Amino acid sequence: AEQKPLSGQKWLITAGPTREAIDPVRYISNHSSGKMGFAIASAAQSLGAEVTIISGPVNLTTPQNCQKIAVTSAVEMHQQALAHAPKSDVFVACAAVADYRIDHIASEKIKKSQDTMQLNLIKNPDIVADVAALESKPFTVGFAAETQDVEHYAKGKLARKKLDMIAANNVAEIGQGFNSDDNALTVFTANDEKVLPLMSKSELAKQLVQHIHHTFQSTRLK
Ligand code: C5P
Repeated sequence: AEQKPLSGQKWLITAGPTREAIDPVRYISNHSSGKMGFAIASAAQSLGAEVTIISGPVNLTTPQNCQKIAVTSAVEMHQQALAHAPKSDVFVACAAVADYRIDHIASEKIKKSQDTMQLNLIKNPDIVADVAALESKPFTVGFAAETQDVEHYAKGKLARKKLDMIAANNVAEIGQGFNSDDNALTVFTANDEKVLPLMSKSELAKQLVQHIHHTFQSTRLK
């Protein structure tokens, strides 16, 4: 068989939003399209990796020869990620995981009554931090969508979540980030930084996958 750069590597990628149920007909979610995660999956697969995508609800075609595990909530995504991560070489956390979920999901549709109502929320598990804490941990890459002080917050997350790498984007800038076809990233490790300027998400994904691969290789040689 043809030898490609990522042949023999297993890549695990989370993508899309999560949905946190309120009752049988309602949920809390966000505007993530899943495009960036799916583009990374496609790029890694093209370079020879065996790719599994754990995806929240998205309207995207699964890239050729990638395995997709469909999930809805953060808790489901967390379970699947922890089940698959120990046998993966690289984990890329691209999903926009809801930070909180509803404390008690109503079993019946909630009726309209008072003028105000309260929803009690509890914190979701941090998927990427829990993967990075595994004993047999894959090379772990997180994302940071920020609207200000991008470098400061991204480096804080890199350290706090014990990631190997973090890809930061400024979602306040026009024409990039959520639901856009284009994006720009600044990628940090503990001791270097690489700028990937505004380009299509598919081209950006290729460059990011190459950068992850090279960094992963160099850490393995140490
Ligand atoms: O802390 P923040 O949500 O900004 O961190 C973003 C990074 O953490 C992304 O890589 C995202 O996929 C990941 N994340 C996660 N589980 C959460 C929250 C964020 O894996 N509950």
